[in-house]
Amino acid sequence: MHLTQLKLLSYRNFKTLSFIPHPRVNLIVGPNGSGKTNLLEAIYHLGTGKSFRSTLSNRIIQQGAETTHIYGVVEKPGFPFSIGVQRQRNSPTVLVLNQQNVANAGSLASLFPLRLINPDSFNLLIGGPKYRRHLLNWGTFHVEHQFWETWKLTTRILKQRNAALKKGAKTLIKSWDKQLEHYALALLTMNQHYYCLFEPIFLQLIKEFLPKIQNLSLRYFPGWDIAQPLSEILEVNYPKDQQRGRTHAGPHRADLKIKVANIPAKDILSRGQQKLVACALLLAQGILLKQHLGIHCAYLLDDLAAELDQSNLKRVCNLLYDIEAQLFISSLEQNAVFHTLFPPNAMKVFHVEHFHESPSLTPPS
Ligand SMILES: Nc1ncnc2c1ncn2[C@@H]1O[C@H](COP(=O)(O)OP(=O)(O)O)[C@@H](O)[C@H]1O
Ligand SMILES: [Mg+2]
Repeated sequence: MHLTQLKLLSYRNFKTLSFIPHPRVNLIVGPNGSGKTNLLEAIYHLGTGKSFRSTLSNRIIQQGAETTHIYGVVEKPGFPFSIGVQRQRNSPTVLVLNQQNVANAGSLASLFPLRLINPDSFNLLIGGPKYRRHLLNWGTFHVEHQFWETWKLTTRILKQRNAALKKGAKTLIKSWDKQLEHYALALLTMNQHYYCLFEPIFLQLIKEFLPKIQNLSLRYFPGWDIAQPLSEILEVNYPKDQQRGRTHAGPHRADLKIKVANIPAKDILSRGQQKLVACALLLAQGILLKQHLGIHCAYLLDDLAAELDQSNLKRVCNLLYDIEAQLFISSLEQNAVFHTLFPPNAMKVFHVEHFHESPSLTPPS
């Protein structure tokens, strides 16, 4: 599936924009501050309903405007559909699918799967467990249809359990513990299934990207010691949980442990090597979707040329091209490297400044 049309209205520094992307590679060039990242961020909204830059959703509305609109058409083979994201200042974001309002972003994510590689992706290595958990859950969500519902229910139970902890309502907590255990086991099965598919693909990429690092390992940690029933762990943890008003064990604490010779990868790999591991994690997800479900994921590559050396950049781009991912790559104009990486007829180059000069630009040939 790929994006065939994008329209923006009062979005950041774009007053209006109409963009017809190439189904394979889109190179978005322009000087600093011209709007390259803004354009990728707008596309990201179509797959997630949110920004990757700011949690303050008002920021995306053009200064001086009251409302912003993002509209896209995504082509699933033989089945095009439209996605709209509208945001009025100080109001909730409205998501529209084929002209019908949708309640949650889960519907968008399953229709237009996309992955972003930008300088923040390196949080996958150096950041807390939430970044890796999010990666694992994103992948599981695409492979396991029950995942989203189960995850939402688990989050709701955890909220209620934590509220009961703060009140010291022990009998109430017992009933939440049983339910939490039930859903935690369902999530465990789904995450484990995804992880078993994911791990060999990831390790194969590591062999290619970091041939000198031979003992890098990945392990899925479910968020509690699964040798024991979760309800028993919750019982033992009760005093600690109550004292802090939160639940210390459960699927909300899941993580992927990345180690080299049993030392956390972030403490032993160079910054450049960490970037490659982060890329491998994100690439493995697109490869898995293609291999197991025939789904083509779109990739947004923001400033990647500034992050990787040329041979690794080439490796990443070739891999993504081979899995037929639609690519949106931002780059400074003087960076000619991308022109050599893809067949000329598989790529279109868009100059961001032209979008500002001529709002309904058709792609240059
Ligand atoms: N809400 C907004 N309204 C108007 N302009 C904005 C808004 N948010 C960001 N910008 C402008 O967008 C530009 C940055 O765009 P960006 O996509 O980050 O550039 P780059 O091409 O370097 O990736 C800045 O000039 C900034 O002032
Ligand atoms: Mg940028």
